[in-house]
Amino acid sequence: MHKELESLRERQQFRSITDSEPQPDGWVIRSGQRMLNLASNQYLGMDCAWAAPGLETASAGMGAGASRLVTGNHPLCTRLEQEFARFKGTESCLLLSSGYMANIGVIPALVGRSDCIFSDRLNHASIMDGIVLSRAECRRYPHRDLDRLEAQLKKAPAGARKLIVTDSIFSMDGSIAPLRELVELKDRYGAMLMVDEAHSGGLYSEEGQGLIHSLRLTDRVEIQMGTFSKAYGAYGSYIAGDALLKEYLTNKARSLIFTTALPPAVISAVYRSWQSVKGHRVRRAELQRKAALFRQRLQEAGFDTGGSECHIVPLVLGSNEKALKVSEKLQQEGIAAVAIRPPTVPEGTARIRFSLMATHSDEDLQWAMERIIRIGREEG
Ligand SMILES: Cc1ncc(COP(=O)(O)O)c(C=O)c1O
Repeated sequence: MHKELESLRERQQFRSITDSEPQPDGWVIRSGQRMLNLASNQYLGMDCAWAAPGLETASAGMGAGASRLVTGNHPLCTRLEQEFARFKGTESCLLLSSGYMANIGVIPALVGRSDCIFSDRLNHASIMDGIVLSRAECRRYPHRDLDRLEAQLKKAPAGARKLIVTDSIFSMDGSIAPLRELVELKDRYGAMLMVDEAHSGGLYSEEGQGLIHSLRLTDRVEIQMGTFSKAYGAYGSYIAGDALLKEYLTNKARSLIFTTALPPAVISAVYRSWQSVKGHRVRRAELQRKAALFRQRLQEAGFDTGGSECHIVPLVLGSNEKALKVSEKLQQEGIAAVAIRPPTVPEGTARIRFSLMATHSDEDLQWAMERIIRIGREEG
């Protein structure tokens, strides 16, 4: 352990955990210092401290007591699943613990040893872990490269089940998956498509149904995965799809079967947050307006913001050392912005990942941008 940690330190890949207390105004207290929070996934600034009205009794329940398949399935869980499926426009919805648990449980349930997975090279680590657990053959295609994906699909062995899996919005890049084209390809080659909406759920479409819904692709994506831990500001995850998929996963997804159900208190908080997120049209629009301005300012100042098209804006710096230095200086000046290094991102593309919140004020963002540009230039 000593040796490995030493090697991580030498490669500037050592990580540690810092106490952080998010504030309702888009700031955070980090190690006792107040900072503008440009590193949170609570994009809409949701405050989930309270249970849903009328469901207060559930808030007493912090322990479900058993797996959902034993005695842990609180009626609130069933109710949320039914109502959320209607909201998503799918036949059914299945609640699981976290997004990580969904990905590591669902992928191995769908494909196995003699099957093929096609995965965007920048997909989230939880997808990669699900792929490893499935033991299926994995073909990673370059980021959003549809030609390469098609070439790989053509070469898949006859008889193998084929699963294409992609983030909808790439968490460290802010780029958006070409969902329409992926749907065409999966139809042409008889594959299933799984889309991870962790960073688009709550933010796209009329009431936050997500990117798939906003593109009117609901009936064409077999497996829609999403989390309640980001824009919804709570915890938990879901798989939306047809009733057969739900029945199948209930019997096959090990991360559903062999873990304790979500606490009723958490489900109650998810329920309340979801009701509120539906109505937050203004916050959704404000988030994208602020992100566009932020991205434009960084680009005009000559910085590389990668393929960002949304509320996640990376400042790609290259070396781990540079990313750590910029992050440290930003924190000294009161901006919480974390250095993202390999293996989270490819070697040589270390960056600061900025994520915007609808609740950031224009003045605070202006203040932050001036500092980011100055520090980026000093270190660049
Ligand atoms: C694309 C993606 N999928 C899944 C997850 C995991 O979700 P959760 O935090 O709910 O475990 C994340 C979060 O980091 C993510 O970015």
